[in-house]
Amino acid sequence: MGSLRVSIGSVRLDRPGMVASGIMDETGASMIRMLRSGAGAVVSKSVGSVPKPGHPNPNFTETVGGCVNAMGLPNPGIDAFGEEMRTAVSEGPIVGSVFGASPEEFAMLADRMEDYGACAVELNLSCPHAQGYGMELGTDPKVVAGIVSAVSDAVSVPVWVKLTPNTHILTQIASAAESAGADAIVAINTLKAMVIVPEFAKPLMSNKTCGLSGRCIKPVGVRAVWDLHKAVSIPIVGVGGIEDHRDALEYIMAGASAFQVGTGVLTRGPEVFADINAGLESFMEEHGYPDIRSMVGVAND
Ligand code: FUM
Repeated sequence: MGSLRVSIGSVRLDRPGMVASGIMDETGASMIRMLRSGAGAVVSKSVGSVPKPGHPNPNFTETVGGCVNAMGLPNPGIDAFGEEMRTAVSEGPIVGSVFGASPEEFAMLADRMEDYGACAVELNLSCPHAQGYGMELGTDPKVVAGIVSAVSDAVSVPVWVKLTPNTHILTQIASAAESAGADAIVAINTLKAMVIVPEFAKPLMSNKTCGLSGRCIKPVGVRAVWDLHKAVSIPIVGVGGIEDHRDALEYIMAGASAFQVGTGVLTRGPEVFADINAGLESFMEEHGYPDIRSMVGVAND
């Protein structure tokens, strides 16, 4: 039976799939539930310096092949999140996701996540619907480099950078992050989107624009990982539309060392991880791959 173990730099996981930030990861109990469901790690909800209510309703709906959301980074703030993190890290690996508006704020938040026991920090530089945060910062290579550099100086755990597909310079941004000390690139976050209700002649979301996730974005994510695999030497974590082991294999064969599942947890339930793990083991056995690592980038070499 092929091994499911993976390494993302110095982060070693028994299973290759992680829960993506924003789903089943707001409390210690929900993160523990996902670890027990077969996830190799959980990425926490993106947390900021102070409590943030997020955008009012409507902020979520299903669409063809996926979902759209404009949650607006609701979170309880880094002080209150400590208890949830400490509970969850007693069960398994938790990656602390943070967002901020400046290098100093990111560095402070990452430092706190390290104190809480995170095995790595993920910098959310890619949310497409939170003004002053996310992709507003993460589409400028110089700004990304400044943030990554400040965080790398502040923490000793690995620094992962989650990037947006809403740019034509993704590989330049990733290279800037790598040069500034990033330990892994996570790609992709949601595609900037909009839903209009014809009867109201208005956008559905209170925020007007939103982020598209789910299976409909998988080809965009796979292409992004393909490009990133050629552009950077640090590991890549693939995310976007993974719901079964064949989706995961596309990302792995494009160049991802591991992957995350977000909307797939909603559509398939927590069992999605056990199903993907079993499917990957059968595939490796049938096709003679000894482990996940032996498949990374094979479609791209
Ligand atoms: O609002 C949210 O929590 C979404 C975050 C993101 O898209 O990165």
